[in-house]
Amino acid sequence: MNIIESKKIWLSSPHMGGTEQKFVKEAFDTNWVAPLGPNVNGFESDIEKYLGESVYAAALSSGTASIHLGLKLLEVTTGDEVLCQSMTFSASANPITYLGAKPVFIDSDRDTWNICPNQLEIAVKDRIAKGKKPKAIIAVHLYGMPYNIEAVHKVASEYRIPILEDSAEALGSSYQGIRCGTFGDISILSFNGNKIITTSGGGSLISKKKEHRDKAIFWATQSRDNAPHYEHSEIGYNYRMSNITAGIGRGQMEVLDAHVANRRRNFEFYKNNLESSSELKFLEEPSGYYSNRWLTCIETSSYELREKIRLSLADENIESRPLWKPMHQQAVFADCDAYLNGVSDDLFDRGLCLPSGSNLEEEDLYRIVSIIKNILR
Ligand SMILES: Cc1ncc(COP(=O)(O)O)c(C=O)c1O
Repeated sequence: MNIIESKKIWLSSPHMGGTEQKFVKEAFDTNWVAPLGPNVNGFESDIEKYLGESVYAAALSSGTASIHLGLKLLEVTTGDEVLCQSMTFSASANPITYLGAKPVFIDSDRDTWNICPNQLEIAVKDRIAKGKKPKAIIAVHLYGMPYNIEAVHKVASEYRIPILEDSAEALGSSYQGIRCGTFGDISILSFNGNKIITTSGGGSLISKKKEHRDKAIFWATQSRDNAPHYEHSEIGYNYRMSNITAGIGRGQMEVLDAHVANRRRNFEFYKNNLESSSELKFLEEPSGYYSNRWLTCIETSSYELREKIRLSLADENIESRPLWKPMHQQAVFADCDAYLNGVSDDLFDRGLCLPSGSNLEEEDLYRIVSIIKNILR
């Protein structure tokens, strides 16, 4: 088929609910066009209510900024080591380096594709034996699937190492009924354009401690001390969320549950239509896990088949993408140590993310599966 004739299908595009512009208009009408105001406060309180568990939220300019300030709150500093899930987006690991610390990467497990508790424990023991106790652990709920919370937190608490929970992809996911974004000593969310809800760009730092939230906001607003003039006793950042984008976030919170339902519907559709093939596998939810199914991913039987599906979809103007390339394979982190079991290398070779937007039409889904079925036939 000719690309000019076929409608573009994106991997995960923004999906407005309808009331976002009302909140943005209010900001204009009341001249709260600044990185503070009623939408910022309202969005934070919406997030806190949604997550439950008595958490405090600081709305920031991105998920990356939230990880940066989160690690700073965990007192990560020059010369420290931070253990980080290898299979993730680079933004999970980059902020470690902003603080002059060094990432040490940990491979994934097969059940969740997230940080492997066994490799984690091996790494913790080995780093301690080498004379350097890791300062923090970054665990990620990739594609919305919660990491193995019990086993990972058991290791963390046994060795008294705090967890930064990267929940950028997992707003709406939960484990044993408790929402992702509330498990870490510090947790973060992302509202980038491709996420389950978006503010166009934005993020949030979450903590059960009010002093964490307050300190994050202090740093995010240039560390301005309490004085009539501009007085600074600490280095600051310009990381606060704008009242305009927070308005988009308030509208998006109203449709979050619907977005989760649609993304889970996408997963079920793909699974029902494709699971009979022995060439494809889907990641199931272990008992007690609930994934927002941010992206539906398939494991193909070979690299060649994965590429064939990806390129055939691209020919039809449909975006798909290999799974995250593990950080231990990235040139930028070539000098970092890693504790590996082969899982993330294998998933990267054979895994593919399928179009998963909450705004996909049924006819889009039919179009995608028919292309894949043709290849499998
Ligand atoms: C796992 C993960 N961590 C962190 C981030 C960073 O979030 P942001 O793009 O809001 O900076 C993202 C998404 O972009 C992500 O997918």
